[in-house]
Amino acid sequence: MFNLLAEQWRRENTTKRRQTKAQAMLEILQKQIRGVDLNPDACRIAAFSLYLALFEKLKPMDVEEFKQKVSQGPFLPALLWSADDPIDSPVIIQGDFLKESLPVGNDFDLVIGNPPWESRGKAQIALHFAIQSAKYLRLGGVGCLLLPSTILVNRYGTLNGDWFRKVTVEKIVQLADFRRVLFEATHPCFILRFVNSVPSLERAVAYETPKLNRFDRRQGVIVIEPGDQKHVSQRDALEAALQHRLQSLWSRKFWGTPRDEAFLRRLDFFPRLSDSMKQQNWHDGVGFHCAEDQHVKPRTMKREDLLAGSWPRREKDPLSSLNVPTS
Ligand SMILES: C[S@@+](CC[C@H](N)C(=O)[O-])C[C@H]1O[C@@H](n2cnc3c(N)ncnc32)[C@H](O)[C@@H]1O
Repeated sequence: MFNLLAEQWRRENTTKRRQTKAQAMLEILQKQIRGVDLNPDACRIAAFSLYLALFEKLKPMDVEEFKQKVSQGPFLPALLWSADDPIDSPVIIQGDFLKESLPVGNDFDLVIGNPPWESRGKAQIALHFAIQSAKYLRLGGVGCLLLPSTILVNRYGTLNGDWFRKVTVEKIVQLADFRRVLFEATHPCFILRFVNSVPSLERAVAYETPKLNRFDRRQGVIVIEPGDQKHVSQRDALEAALQHRLQSLWSRKFWGTPRDEAFLRRLDFFPRLSDSMKQQNWHDGVGFHCAEDQHVKPRTMKREDLLAGSWPRREKDPLSSLNVPTS
């Protein structure tokens, strides 16, 4: 972020300069960016990276000037703020992002983050980061977060109708298909970009669902094919939220073509299997279960066992109770 702002300053100040480069860089560093992390080591690394980025931007001449005129007191400005060691111009703040009491403003143009993805029961901590980051933005400010896909598609603890009513979601890039490629993590993730403003019903969320192909890794790019560039209107998102099917909307659009979606919409008119299961008092389970013997604990068979033909042994032929003609 510092590099981007420094580059923007350079482009805008090619001829006439309101301030020297050293002054400008220091101002960007101390006034325009803030970072928060709970972990003191992560904070120290961030501060160190900022010092390196600062000096990468300065020529030896600027460094001299920086030393003499710009920085008062110690040569390097203090960046790290903690509750035990508060400083006047906090840049990197060691603290809890989810608590309100941090010494940062709440009128940022941009909040970017790669929050932790820990699930606590049904709740994902990343969901709280998404909600909290909107609170740090000025009206019209932009939030951009890398989040676990579970908070989009799980049944509970997800970005719900309240979220889609409060902020304007501009884009969702669903990276679930890259789960084994990105970060070596098995967690699917997505990028969320939103604006802190109440959305109009006419808006649409750009929903991009790139799929892994054999070129991606070699070329280091993620190609988003035209068929994977979808749109979800704000109206459809809110309607789906009211009908408790917002999560399935994202899942269906992830793999489905418009024809698949139309087919699924027709199926929606029929009763659900889960409703019948409740009525019939059926139990769900994974794999193959020996069902009719009440005394045998059902066991889930692995696919390899099934293929190898090692079926569970039974005293009784399971088909004997059926009236099947034998000749
Ligand atoms: C996935 S890492 C991202 C690290 C770094 N920001 C980056 O993008 O490389 C998540 C970070 O969130 C920090 N973290 C966890 N809970 C936090 C909280 N409540 N407030 C602030 N930071 C937190 C962790 O210490 C960790 O450094």
